[in-house]
Amino acid sequence: MALRAYLQQLFDNNDVKRIRSEVNSDLEIAAMCRREFASESGGHALLFEAVKGTSVRVAANLFGTKERLLRMLEVDEGLLIKKIRAMIQSGTQNSAANLVAACNKASEYSVAPEYQQSDLTLKDIPALRSWPEEKDPYLSLALTHTVSPATGVCNLGLYRAALIGNQDIALNFAAGSGADCHLQLAEERGEPLPVVLIIGPDPALFWAASAPLPTDCSEYGFAAEITDRPVSLSPCLTQPLSVPANAEILIEGEIRAGERVSEGPFGNHTGQYVERNDCPLMKVTAIRHRAQPILPVTVVGPPPSENIRLAYLNELLLREMLCYDFPLIADLVMPEMTIFHGAAIIAVRDCSSEDVADLIQQLIKTTSLGRSRLLVLVDDDINIHDLNMSWWRTVNLLRPERVTATAKGLIINATGIDRERLVTEDRVTARRVDRCQ
Ligand SMILES: Cc1cc2nc3c(=O)[nH]c(=O)nc-3n(C[C@H](O)[C@H](O)[C@H](O)COP(=O)(O)O)c2cc1C
Repeated sequence: MALRAYLQQLFDNNDVKRIRSEVNSDLEIAAMCRREFASESGGHALLFEAVKGTSVRVAANLFGTKERLLRMLEVDEGLLIKKIRAMIQSGTQNSAANLVAACNKASEYSVAPEYQQSDLTLKDIPALRSWPEEKDPYLSLALTHTVSPATGVCNLGLYRAALIGNQDIALNFAAGSGADCHLQLAEERGEPLPVVLIIGPDPALFWAASAPLPTDCSEYGFAAEITDRPVSLSPCLTQPLSVPANAEILIEGEIRAGERVSEGPFGNHTGQYVERNDCPLMKVTAIRHRAQPILPVTVVGPPPSENIRLAYLNELLLREMLCYDFPLIADLVMPEMTIFHGAAIIAVRDCSSEDVADLIQQLIKTTSLGRSRLLVLVDDDINIHDLNMSWWRTVNLLRPERVTATAKGLIINATGIDRERLVTEDRVTARRVDRCQ
């Protein structure tokens, strides 16, 4: 589904506000987005039709509610779980291996691109400056497409991109990210890494590109399997890559070996400005776009922030994968506000303390939770979706010897409640009270 078709669905559902008066991409749009998202129940999607100094329109708050998230994937929650289970439970006992196999089998079609125009320069793209101390404007929903120079496997990642010059973009992918691995391989060979920034493709790719998928799992295949929508690709003009044919804007370019640049300050999800002085520098080689293209944006910063809503989908995926891989895990919750640090609460089935210790050792080795800043394990007699209950139980069982420091954070083992001594309602009395009501 093209971004435009998704927006049309939102229009048909009276879920978009059109803003026809002129707005400025410098601070003003971000402030309006934040206000809309903070309004009751996540607000509406926004389409800014008259952005100062450009013909490009800006779409925001595209996945700010659970309903819009699921609409983006054209599934309800039950169907989404069914599709994830179908992928991770077929084949081996390892959910990641099964997911990779399922996603990498999706067929790809080569079609003519829908972005036929080439009038825009970087200056015409109304990337947002969202907070007063930010120096440069940022693309917050551009998807970075790269291909491994060693294996030819492609990666799609959602990383912030600062527009720092007429042909220059600072691409902030973290060490260990998919794009970083490809760049390292290219640099070892002394070759430039071809890159395409995909702006406004099928909205299901926003999730696929930011989801904690296993290495070498095709993000395109994942989105196609979830949505039943085929992957249609077109060759680039100036780089040896093929990318989605229905995007709004494509920025082609390359990162030359060793070229780095300073980036920031950027107002990030910790609520603080961050800077980086070794950010990979992308040199733009071509820009193509549709007529009157639409730039999708999300405003990063302290909560409440729309993009942490993607956490709900990530949590759902990881819950299914971990429950399949580790039968001792009964449930998993990743509190929305801490999702970007992989913080999780895990409910563990009745088992021995040795089994729990073994489970912890195995979890540290997983790619999904191995880099978590905080893992809390509790017994499965409480509802961990009630964060107060998890907090209550954790503090009650907290002892220094139950806390393990890892390379990335802490693991708190708050399991081991004596299930025989749990205080519960007497059933006979409870029934009597019910009758009195
Ligand atoms: C709005 C948003 C902005 C993000 N910005 C960055 C970023 O600048 N750098 C980064 O490494 N990851 C960022 N992430 C997280 C990555 O998208 C996520 O870790 C993804 O799995 C990376 O894909 P990869 O493993 O293929 O590299 C962001 C996520 C979201 C939702």
